[in-house]
Amino acid sequence: MGLLDHAFAALGVRQNAATPGSPGQRSGVRVTTAPAILEKSMSIVVTAATGQLGRLVVDELLTRAAADRVVAVARNERKAARIAAKGVEVRIADYGKPETLKNVFGVCDVALLISGTEFGQRTAQHRNVIDAAKATGVARLTYTSVLGGLIEGGYKEAAEQHKPTEQAIVESGLTYTLLRNGWYTENYTAQIPGQLKHGVVGAAGEGKIGSATRADFAAAAAVVLTSGGHENKIYELSGDSAWSFAEYAAELSLQSGTEIAYRDVPVETLAAVFSRAGIPAEQAYNYAEIDLGIKRGLLQGGSGELSRLIGRPTTPLAETISAALKG
Ligand SMILES: NC(=O)c1ccc[n+]([C@@H]2O[C@H](COP(=O)([O-])OP(=O)(O)OC[C@H]3O[C@@H](n4cnc5c(N)ncnc54)[C@H](OP(=O)(O)O)[C@@H]3O)[C@@H](O)[C@H]2O)c1
Repeated sequence: MGLLDHAFAALGVRQNAATPGSPGQRSGVRVTTAPAILEKSMSIVVTAATGQLGRLVVDELLTRAAADRVVAVARNERKAARIAAKGVEVRIADYGKPETLKNVFGVCDVALLISGTEFGQRTAQHRNVIDAAKATGVARLTYTSVLGGLIEGGYKEAAEQHKPTEQAIVESGLTYTLLRNGWYTENYTAQIPGQLKHGVVGAAGEGKIGSATRADFAAAAAVVLTSGGHENKIYELSGDSAWSFAEYAAELSLQSGTEIAYRDVPVETLAAVFSRAGIPAEQAYNYAEIDLGIKRGLLQGGSGELSRLIGRPTTPLAETISAALKG
């Protein structure tokens, strides 16, 4: 995803599923209350399974559940072939086409909605998925959101997509889990070839980012999808340690043997850089503006919830830089 990346830099079963009018009752299926382990009749459905996060979630799930319990939802059958080869059922659907979402979920399934990427359309698309999950009567819907500070801070990128999606999930009456993910470290390490040539450029000042790897966030999603006690919970997920762009540049310098500087620029300059790279102007500004959120500490994290969920420390920045340099 290039500059886009840079810019962003057992199961819970609805405890009220048998209440009158609930999807579980409408379908005539008895829904039990929050079992500690996955019941045999249930599937774990992962949307956007062909994305970078989705693929890792599927792989994590396969270490915790049999392949015939996992369902991957993708819009591109060809891209999903590798997942199907692992014995995972693939269902083809597009968030933007409600008719394709009708048979994606099964009653009492546990589902993960991974947020989409289509700027300006995502909220409507996510609503389509939520409506389909509600109509079917899934046991619990988990959603990959973004750290609450960024949502509450009013940053357009977060406020436009994640806030209304979170609201729609809560208002749907479905049992839910919200995974408010911090930034992926890979948003930055994917830019290393350019950083080695041009340095690190940002508008975040000395603000710190409590990032973690996609694999760390994927592990958290897999834990939440395959264990109980996460019903109607919101997790603020971030890496154990936070770093500034200057610290990032220093670590990259150390490991690469090349002196890399951090250049702090006004947000407009950063937006122009994104724009020159082909991102539409308004979108470029929204992405650049997130650096101002970083400056305010809104992506610093620090709750420790991610490492608690996954039962291990999150992957340190130095390790992710090292892996990226090795290719
Ligand atoms: N926390 C962060 O730092 C960060 C950074 C960037 C993005 N994000 C968010 O986190 C999500 C997952 O990240 P990622 O790295 O896995 O992103 P990614 O690799 O770009 O994957 C996005 C996935 O969304 C799917 N998708 C997009 N529009 C869709 C639609 N209309 N219908 C069905 N599927 C659709 C894509 O399908 P295809 O495979 O067919 O393209 C792809 O599988 C992103 O989508 C974005 O919302 C978070």
